[in-house]
Amino acid sequence: MADENSVRHLLEAAAEYGIDYRETSPDRAVSATPEAVAAVDEFIEPMPEDGVADMSVIAQLDEIGTPATVAMTGPRYFGFVIGGSLPVTVASNWLATAWDQNTGMHEVTPATATLERVAMDWMIDLFGLPADTSAAFVTGATIANFASLAAARNRVYNNVGWNVEADGLIGAPPVSVLVGEEVHPTVIKGLGLLGFGRERVVRLAVDGQGRIDARKLPTIDGPTIVCTQAGNLNTGAFDPVGEICDSVKPQDAWVHVDGAFGLWAAASPDRAPLCNGFQAADSWATDAHKWLNVPYDSGIAFVRDGPALKAAMSITADYLMTDTEFRNPSDYTPELSRRARGVDVWAALKALGKTGVAEMIDRCCRNARRFAAGLEAAGFPVLNEVVLNQVLVSFGEDAQTRRIIDAIQEEGTCWCGVTVWQGQTAMRISVCNWSTTQGDVDQSLDAIIRIAKSEVVDKPE
Ligand SMILES: Cc1ncc(COP(=O)(O)O)c(C=O)c1O
Repeated sequence: MADENSVRHLLEAAAEYGIDYRETSPDRAVSATPEAVAAVDEFIEPMPEDGVADMSVIAQLDEIGTPATVAMTGPRYFGFVIGGSLPVTVASNWLATAWDQNTGMHEVTPATATLERVAMDWMIDLFGLPADTSAAFVTGATIANFASLAAARNRVYNNVGWNVEADGLIGAPPVSVLVGEEVHPTVIKGLGLLGFGRERVVRLAVDGQGRIDARKLPTIDGPTIVCTQAGNLNTGAFDPVGEICDSVKPQDAWVHVDGAFGLWAAASPDRAPLCNGFQAADSWATDAHKWLNVPYDSGIAFVRDGPALKAAMSITADYLMTDTEFRNPSDYTPELSRRARGVDVWAALKALGKTGVAEMIDRCCRNARRFAAGLEAAGFPVLNEVVLNQVLVSFGEDAQTRRIIDAIQEEGTCWCGVTVWQGQTAMRISVCNWSTTQGDVDQSLDAIIRIAKSEVVDKPE
């Protein structure tokens, strides 16, 4: 009989809990019940003086934690922009966690560093980026934006003879940073962390979909970084990156693309035209935990000028094996010690292949259009051009829209979030999960329309 306390027994138990969770996710209510949420207070206790058995630790996690989760991995979670982790990536993640490789340096983690390199090359090819692009595997698009902009900072300062890594920003020449009015707040945060100032950026006017108008770009003078977007988090709209590059790159400006989810459009022949001209940019940030559907956390920064990224990120120390013919992952990332993120990305890309990635992207876009058509047919205006996987719908006055969203979340068939789009409160539906079917869309539409109509009739403003 297996030893109750063996590693095998413990890991098998955790796997069983995880498998049960994944098998039941599609059918359970998306939101946790108030009772389940209240029960998480049981976690709040003084740290035990003496430890408890490993198996009871895992059992308590499942007993209290599992019911209080929101079924983000399930097919009817349409909140924020959230992927659902493909089963193969959960499995690869478990195995990589068992390996526990600190993937900073190739020499000591040859398997995981190689997988990261392969995944990087595959994505560069998939997105049609320049073949010698460098990449950093980081926690998400927030840090991918930050890492890209750190490389940008290195390059634009280098162009004017200033070594920003060595000499810092005090006394440095000014750099102009241009962003669209609908820039994602994480880009602003990254700029703040890099010393460019959250308020000092110049905000460019956008159209009704949130796109920068390339014809209205100011004259570029001196070191400049222009931050563009592939996939606005509300509308899914794309900035005209090619036109922006044509206009500002002759003046040596660095063009960054925040493509947290939108960059994946480039992997679908059907959606790729949205990314026309993007390849001319200097850096691109994306997430794998959104549309590639790998487990949290996983994002990637791609930078055309690899030496600039390396100059911004690499460290040297006598005990580190940095002098190597291989690609050391941590030469490109803010972290030194790091989990083997590339493994999950590799597993997803290997299991899906190019056609599988394209099919997943197209399926989500088709389902988004199905949502939009269903809502319009029911008389609820869709506020955006549904070019990708994002749908914005209004249920009337702002307060009424908010009330209906609350009721939809509480009812639990599906989960959609609230947003304010250019002054108007709206419900945001983001179709990002590999497992969402037309049936899930129809089931969600039935619930949304039923709740919205009953709320409108029962509780007029
Ligand atoms: C356009 C855009 N940029 C950046 C981010 C930040 O991504 P993350 O939360 O993965 O760091 C998001 C998240 O939704 C996003 O939509």
